[in-house]
Amino acid sequence: MRLLFCCTDTNPEPWLAGIRQALPQATVELWESGAAPADLAVVWAPPQVFFDEQPGLRAVFNIGAGVDALLARRIAPSTLIVRLDDAGMAVQMAEYVCHAVIRHFREFDVYEAETKAGRWAFRKPRRREEFVVGVLGLGVLGTRVAQALRGFEFPVQGWSRGPKLIDGITTLDGAEGLHAMLAQCRVLVNLLPLTDDTRDILNRDTLSRLPPGAYLINVARGAHLVDEDLLALLDSGRLAGATLDVFRKEPLPDEHAFWRHPRITLTPHTSARTMRDESIAQIATKITALHRGEPIVGVVNRLRGY
Ligand code: NAP
Ligand code: GLV
Repeated sequence: MRLLFCCTDTNPEPWLAGIRQALPQATVELWESGAAPADLAVVWAPPQVFFDEQPGLRAVFNIGAGVDALLARRIAPSTLIVRLDDAGMAVQMAEYVCHAVIRHFREFDVYEAETKAGRWAFRKPRRREEFVVGVLGLGVLGTRVAQALRGFEFPVQGWSRGPKLIDGITTLDGAEGLHAMLAQCRVLVNLLPLTDDTRDILNRDTLSRLPPGAYLINVARGAHLVDEDLLALLDSGRLAGATLDVFRKEPLPDEHAFWRHPRITLTPHTSARTMRDESIAQIATKITALHRGEPIVGVVNRLRGY
């Protein structure tokens, strides 16, 4: 079994060592142009030439959950595309989103400003039972986030492509379900994959369906959000604020208005990082299963785009 590692912006050495240890029977090499044909690959943002030179790959393992960038490549139809399935990301995403929701709900940002100014002042507590949090996308990460929010007793609603049953969560699907959910949400969390159907989904029309003073958390992809529409809704006071982890262009350009907006909190695409050891263990387990002819989870449906 021959496996190539081709990951942009990733230090290859610890990955190569880890994969070799997890799969001692495999020949594991760092890809360079002209490399001999391989059966398998571990990738992140590989160049097109990688796939042009490796048309015989049986499976390619993406070291992230989102495959939007990978699906922009021309990949042989016979190659299985496999994404990370949690691998330590879900708990991080739950931490990040709960932190952002609670910071907004409890107005910790306001308290921070008040106490920094030397003021001892109370805010009227908000009613939790009226503070509906909506989660777009109820997959591996969205479900974990919805359940974690439910643990803090927020009323949680979630939206997915197909119908879903999740204990304690009100689930909706379809365009009508989306509109019904948006009308309720004091906080909207985006955890959709980026596909032709979801690009620009956070726009003036959808965001204006939220109750006045709602808050947005985008942790999925920057291209889900129409930046100018968010800025207009924040500046008019229609939306209260936003926490953004992902951007159309990353790193976020210095001149972008998001950097200086007083009601935007931003982080540099760090809400759920790839954990190397967990990812290697998951990929190795899946390779072994494939080798035995067993089914695996996390196989990307190219038609759906996720
Ligand atoms: P996933 O398991 O594939 O879940 C995707 C969810 O979105 C599913 O519930 C799916 O519905 C729903 N969905 C897809 N298209 C839809 C549509 N057109 N309308 C309604 N619902 C739709 O993905 P995941 O592992 O949870 O990851 C979600 C995304 O998070 C990734 O694609 C990636 O972009 C992002 N991400 C960001 C970070 C970060 O650090 N910021 C880290 C990891 C991942 P069904 O259940 O009905 O199929
Ligand atoms: C990160 O954004 C991922 O898709 O894993």
